[in-house]
Amino acid sequence: MSSDRFYYTTPIYYLNAKPHIGHAYCTVLVDALTRFRRLFGAEVHFLTGTDEHGQKVQKSADARGVTPKQHVDELAAEFRDLWPELHIAYDDFIRTTEPRHMAAVQEALTRLFERGDIYAQDYEGWYSTSEERFFTEDELVDGKDPISGLEVQRIKERNYFFKMSKYGERLRQHIVDNPGFIRPAYRGNEVLGFLDKGLQDLCISRPKERLSWGIPLPFDPEYVTYVWVDALTNYVSALGWPDGEAFARWWPHAHHVIGKDILTTHSVYWTTMLMALDVPLPQSIVATGWWLSQDRKMSKSLGNVVSPLGMRDVYGPDVLRYFLLRDMVVGLDGNFSEEALVKRNNSDLANDLGNLQRRAGGLVEKWFEGRVPERGQGGELEAAIVAAADELREKVPALVDDLQIHAAIEETLQFVRRLNKYVTDTEPFKVVKTDKEAAGRSLYTVLEGLRHAACLLAPVMPEKMATLTASLGASPTGLLADLRWGGLEPGTKLELGEPLFPRRDLPEAPPAEVAPAPVAPPAPKGGAKAKAAEPAGDGASDVISFDDFAKVKLRAATVLEAERVAGSDKLLRLQVDLGDEKRQIVAGIGKTWEPEAIVGRQVVIVANLAPRKVFKVESQGMVLAVETPDGGLALVTPSAAVAPGTEVR
Ligand code: MSP
Repeated sequence: MSSDRFYYTTPIYYLNAKPHIGHAYCTVLVDALTRFRRLFGAEVHFLTGTDEHGQKVQKSADARGVTPKQHVDELAAEFRDLWPELHIAYDDFIRTTEPRHMAAVQEALTRLFERGDIYAQDYEGWYSTSEERFFTEDELVDGKDPISGLEVQRIKERNYFFKMSKYGERLRQHIVDNPGFIRPAYRGNEVLGFLDKGLQDLCISRPKERLSWGIPLPFDPEYVTYVWVDALTNYVSALGWPDGEAFARWWPHAHHVIGKDILTTHSVYWTTMLMALDVPLPQSIVATGWWLSQDRKMSKSLGNVVSPLGMRDVYGPDVLRYFLLRDMVVGLDGNFSEEALVKRNNSDLANDLGNLQRRAGGLVEKWFEGRVPERGQGGELEAAIVAAADELREKVPALVDDLQIHAAIEETLQFVRRLNKYVTDTEPFKVVKTDKEAAGRSLYTVLEGLRHAACLLAPVMPEKMATLTASLGASPTGLLADLRWGGLEPGTKLELGEPLFPRRDLPEAPPAEVAPAPVAPPAPKGGAKAKAAEPAGDGASDVISFDDFAKVKLRAATVLEAERVAGSDKLLRLQVDLGDEKRQIVAGIGKTWEPEAIVGRQVVIVANLAPRKVFKVESQGMVLAVETPDGGLALVTPSAAVAPGTEVR
C-alpha cells in the first residue's frame, strides 16, 4: 500500500483519566510511522487529540466538583503537553470542544438528516453508561454490559437514529474487496462476522435532560449528539471538512490507528456515516492490541496502570519508545513490565548498539586522533557488510509497510550485531599495532554501519539517534534515498560524549505476576509421547481422571518469533500468538530446530502452566514435542491451519 502521502490519526483520548502507557503506545506508534514514512520520502500529516464530550467526561467533572469545561481544559492540556515529552511531534491536535469541530459535526448531522438518513423513534433498550450505548437483550452477557461487565439500565425514550443498516451490505463488500482495509486481516474477519449478524440502525442522540455535555443536534435542540458520532467526526473536522484544502489534500490518504476495543465503532459506525455523507472511506483501519499489566488490560479500577511519565523520568523517552515498539507486535497484546524494559535496554541498546559506538569511537580517539579514518580498499568482509546495509535499506521500508515495526527494528539490530561480529573478526584493537591502515578500514566500516543504523532507528528514537549521528561527526539523513555507503567523511572529528545507553539494574521488586502463565521447555528425552521437561513423576498413578485431564488447557499457537536463549544450545525463546494474547515460551527444541525454521508454524502448547524462569527467561507455557527415532524432536502440530488460540480437545 505504498503511497507518497499519508494522513495518520490516533484515537482521540477520553478526558476521564490521565494518560497511561496504553494511550502512549498508540500515539508513539503513529509518531514512529510518521517519521518512518517521512524518511522514506512521503508527505505525512499526523493528527491526535482529545474526546471531550459525553457522559464519562461529565461524570469525571462532577466527581471533581468542577464544570465540564474547566475539567476538559485542564486535562486536554495534560495530554497535549505529555506527547512532546515522549518525542511525539503531531501536526495537529483536535479537541472536540473546539468550534471548528462542533461546526463540522452539526454540518454532518444536517446533511444526514436532509438526505433522510436520520429518523426519530421511541426506543427501549439496555443502556450502558460505561460504553455510552444501548445493547440489545441478546448482546448482554449475564445481564451485564458485554464489554465492561458493568450494570446496564433499562431506558425508554424517544431518540434519533441513523439508518446504519442501509449501508451494511455495501460495507461488507468493501471489506471483502479491500483486504488491506482492516489490519491485521483477521480483524477484518471479525467485522464481517459482526455484519453477518445483521446491522441495526444507530441511536445518535441523547436527550439533554439526561446528558447536557455534548453538541446539540442541529435539528432538535432538546438533544445532544451521541459521543461516538461526535468523536469519529474529528478525523474530518480537523481537516476543515466539508471544504478546505487540507481535506482534499489529506483525506484520500487516511489511515486510522486505533485499539482493538474500538474497532466496531471505526469500521462500522464511522464507515457507514462516511458512506451516507458521500465521503470516501479511509485507506485503512489498523487495530492494535493492548498493553497488559500483570496480565490484565491496564485500568484505573484494577490499579495496574503504568504511567508513561514515570517510565520516561527513569529511562528517558527514547528507551521507552524503543521498548514499546520493539516488544509489541502490532495487533497482538503485550505484557508491560519494567523488568522487560530494562532487559531490552541492556541487551539491544546498551550492549549491542551503545557498546559498539564506545568501542569503535574509543579506538578512533586513541589511534586516529579522534578523526574518522580512511575507508580504504575493502575486502570480502567489508563487501559483506556493505551488502547487508543495502539489504537493510530495502527491508526496513517493506516491514514498515507491512506494519511489522518490531521486525523492522530487529532487522536493524541484527545488522548492528553483525557489525559487532565484524569487529571481533577483524580485531582492529590488535591489528592497529601492526597495520594501522587495515584497522582504520575496519573502524570506518563500523562507524559507517552505525550511521546507517542511526538513520533507520531515528523514527523510533529520534533524539538518541540524532546524538549518535552527531557523535560520528555526521549530519542526520533526512531521506533514506540519500543514505549511501561511504557518506561518512574521513577526517571528520568524532564527538563521542557520554554513553548513549547506560546499563540499568533490574527494578528492585518487579510487580508480582498475578495470572497464570506457564511453562517448561519440553525435555529432550523420553518416550514417544508428547511430553514436558519434567520427568513423569514416580509413575505410581499412570491413570488420571477425565477431570484431571480437563484441567490441562492445550491450545494451538502460531510462532511469531524465535531466537536462541543465550548460553544454551537447547533452548529457544519463542513468542507465540494465542489469538487473544501473545506469550513468551522457552522450548527445549534448539538442537533440532533452527529459530528461523519454526517461525510461522503452528504448535500445540500447554497454556495454563504456572510461569517459570528457564535460564533467567520467563516461560509462559510449554510447547509439545515428540522424540523421533534419531533422537530429534518433532513438533505436535494441528494437521490443518487453525485460528491461533483454538483449544485442543
Ligand atoms: N475516546 C475514544 C476514542 C474515540 S476515537 C474517535 C476512546 N478513548 S480511550 O481514551 O478510552 O482510549 C483510546 C485508545 O487507547 C483506544 O484505542 C484504546 O484501545 C487505547 N488503549 C486504552 N488502554 C490500552 C492499553 N492498555 N493498551 C493499548 N491501548 C489501549 O476509546
